[in-house]
Amino acid sequence: MPGVVILGGQWGDEGKGKIIDYLAQRADVVARFQGGDNAGHTVVVEGKQYVFHLIPSGIVLPGKTCIIGHGVVVNPFSLMEEKASLEKSGCQIEGRLWVSDRAHLILPYHKTVDALREAGLGSKKIGTTGRGVGPAYGDKVARIGIRMGDLLNVDYLAERLRQNAAIKNKELQQLGADSLIDPDKLLEELRPCIREISPLIKDTIELLHGELRKGKTVLWEGAQGALLDVDLGTYPYVTSSNTAVGGALTGTGVGPRHIQSVVAVVKAYATRVGGGPFPTQCAEEEDRIIREKGHEYGATTGRPRRCGWFDVVAARYSVQVSGVDHLAITKLDVLDDIESIRICEQYKLNGRLSSQFPSDIRSVESCEPVYTEIKGWCQKTIGVTRYEDLPTRAKSYLETIEKVVGVPISLVSTGPDRRDIIEKVNPFA
Ligand code: IMP
Repeated sequence: MPGVVILGGQWGDEGKGKIIDYLAQRADVVARFQGGDNAGHTVVVEGKQYVFHLIPSGIVLPGKTCIIGHGVVVNPFSLMEEKASLEKSGCQIEGRLWVSDRAHLILPYHKTVDALREAGLGSKKIGTTGRGVGPAYGDKVARIGIRMGDLLNVDYLAERLRQNAAIKNKELQQLGADSLIDPDKLLEELRPCIREISPLIKDTIELLHGELRKGKTVLWEGAQGALLDVDLGTYPYVTSSNTAVGGALTGTGVGPRHIQSVVAVVKAYATRVGGGPFPTQCAEEEDRIIREKGHEYGATTGRPRRCGWFDVVAARYSVQVSGVDHLAITKLDVLDDIESIRICEQYKLNGRLSSQFPSDIRSVESCEPVYTEIKGWCQKTIGVTRYEDLPTRAKSYLETIEKVVGVPISLVSTGPDRRDIIEKVNPFA
């Protein structure tokens, strides 16, 4: 049975929520594989907007099984809040949402460490979302993390919290924290979460493989984007997980044979939020125009995103490292009024042209984008659902991207609603 991975092909915020929601209609199971509540997936169904941070957006589709895999770091307080807010809007969660017992927790002290480390970096700060994601993954790799399954055994949890407090309080002191971890108090704070979340916790590897054996179709839901991948992105200006395709395998416990195709979602332009190099960032006025038209403000933090032109060098790199089969282009309509659109097919680095995405950020920082100018279509594309109904110049822009990136565009999103989409090829076929 087909399994499809949907991931971000740029620096996150590509509009994955919309594409995931659209394609999840064809899946039985939706499994989130990495990241934490740093993500913000916005889905609009019949005019009603939902913003997801942790829970797979497939939850708005009745009957789908949703999994938060062990590659995700889970803030139990955020999970409880998101669950309550979805239930309030009529979503049935229990019996449909499962959280891996192997997933690591983000606890309040991870957020404190995140903020203090950022403050210590001054102008070199990463620009994190402040959700404690990096420190929680750090503890996981350092083998001192606390996992969802530990919530099911309060005595063991109390012991782990005490051990962690002994280690983490030293770091908090060094960082100049106002207060230290009191493990007993933290345990008391966690109790309501434990009551609420315990019924959702299970071995999701067993669950997922059981579904695969029954011939069910799975959609793997990524967060952030390939250029923020901790191994493959613009390190250290990255998030702390594997956002590219490998994260789907390690983050849910499956082998590559279960994955039939990989969809990279990319915007018709580019954005980046937080610090780090962004070669195709627009000049001030164009940046402002795209930001306002595209509502380019973070769904999690509300921060303004930096806006830029479509970067083919970066997109080709993303496609290469994730073995991408399909592109889903979003927010084409944001470019509707722009008379002259740019696309970067090469960088100029140390006086030489290059089509390669550099491995070190100093080179990415000093890259000069080489642009091709494309005449804008200056016509509305919002809500178009048939490819042939797009303006000729919009089609030619998309065909240029397809040709230079080297991957077919299978989906084009033409607006925020689930219905605003052109489907050229079904990635599940
Ligand atoms: P963290 O994931 O909060 O540690 O942040 C690390 C970097 O990833 C920062 O530059 C963030 O702005 C960026 N980032 C994290 N999550 C997202 C997202 O969902 N969309 C876009 N950028 C993100």
